[in-house]
Amino acid sequence: MYVVVGVTGGIAAYKAVHVVRLLVKNGHEVHVIPTDDALRFVGLATWEAISRHPVTTSVHDDVAEVRHVALGRHADLVIVAPATANSLAKMAAGIADNLLGTTLLATSAPVIVAPAMHTEMWRHPATVANIATLIARGVHVVGPADGPLTGGDSGPGRMSEPEQIVACALALVTGTGDLAGLRVAVSTGGTREPIDPVRFLGNRSSGRQGVAVALAAAERGAEVLLVAAHVDDGVLAEASVHPRVRVTRVAAAAELGTAMREAASAADAVVMTAAVADYRVAEVSDRKLSKDDAPAPTLHLVQTEDILAGLVANRRDGQTVVGFAAETAPEPAELLARGRRKRARKGVDLLAVNEVGWTSGFESAENAVVLIDARDEVVAETSGSKRHVADALWDAVLLVRGRAG
Ligand code: CTP
Repeated sequence: MYVVVGVTGGIAAYKAVHVVRLLVKNGHEVHVIPTDDALRFVGLATWEAISRHPVTTSVHDDVAEVRHVALGRHADLVIVAPATANSLAKMAAGIADNLLGTTLLATSAPVIVAPAMHTEMWRHPATVANIATLIARGVHVVGPADGPLTGGDSGPGRMSEPEQIVACALALVTGTGDLAGLRVAVSTGGTREPIDPVRFLGNRSSGRQGVAVALAAAERGAEVLLVAAHVDDGVLAEASVHPRVRVTRVAAAAELGTAMREAASAADAVVMTAAVADYRVAEVSDRKLSKDDAPAPTLHLVQTEDILAGLVANRRDGQTVVGFAAETAPEPAELLARGRRKRARKGVDLLAVNEVGWTSGFESAENAVVLIDARDEVVAETSGSKRHVADALWDAVLLVRGRAG
């Protein structure tokens, strides 16, 4: 495939070197078009060496070859990584004051952008509007991921990892990926059960693991419905702009149940990552409770429905249902025993058991899970980034689906 990689002026340009390398390694012909600003971060010689083709930034080079449109016309795919806030604004406006700009106007190939900028810039209404314009025009957006940024700050704005950009780009063009053709429903986040108009019962789930599960599926080719209860700020950024992820927001367990039943009705695989409240307040007060109330209020709790059990009971033919179990256990053998009991009780095809405590599981970027199948066997035991865990989960889903098929 003939791939054009546009590189704009951000520190993440150094990571774009790896994007080019991966594409070349996969046998693609890669032409890099850096902007002048990008060359302040990574020099021309690096791009030429790594892509094995001459590199230029100017529309005035190779005029005889009509270079300002030739690369765009030839391209099967254009990737812009990193895409700065400025370059996204120029793309949205169709500004063509450099070789990358003219190429983008000349191409009819799919265009994928990997934004990278500080969180404030990503959230600025101008950038939000530019992204919306580009998506409406058919441009695909990968990321940005949520994590540490160069100024010591942290939040959505980090360029997605090169492997993810390349996998997403190739899956979009070729329609491949080992989950292509599958529809999946994923729940994430913590439910909030109302007490009165301003208060709720909640939990510490950040939603990161479920979002990683949804993104991994989408990047491996699946169509994803992501039902998100409360998640930490910025966690949904990448999923909400992914072309194959549709996000539905919910608050309480009852809403999550309704949304998941609907999502599951057409899904080949269902993953319940959400931390669903086990109890809700029996009678929600329609006025704010006050400390002047006498006697002090007592909350009467009733159990919420077990959404996962309902999904298992009504599963479609060939549908794979996966649950998560957050457990606190004194030792690994006990964790496993509890996991096995819960898998059997829930009747799921796979249960991902993870240990949670005050310092692990929730809120952190890393996770460790044991995956138990319907034969009570441990099919995978994995730890690392939540994305890594998500990929292991989909590998296990493919394994159990392969056995069934
Ligand atoms: N779950 C659900 N509906 C609930 C509670 C949990 O669908 N009302 C799902 C979760 O999304 C998760 C799985 O069930 O996939 C296990 O959740 P967990 O809280 O570990 O299990 P519980 O059934 O609540 O069991 P317990 O709290 O007694 O350990």
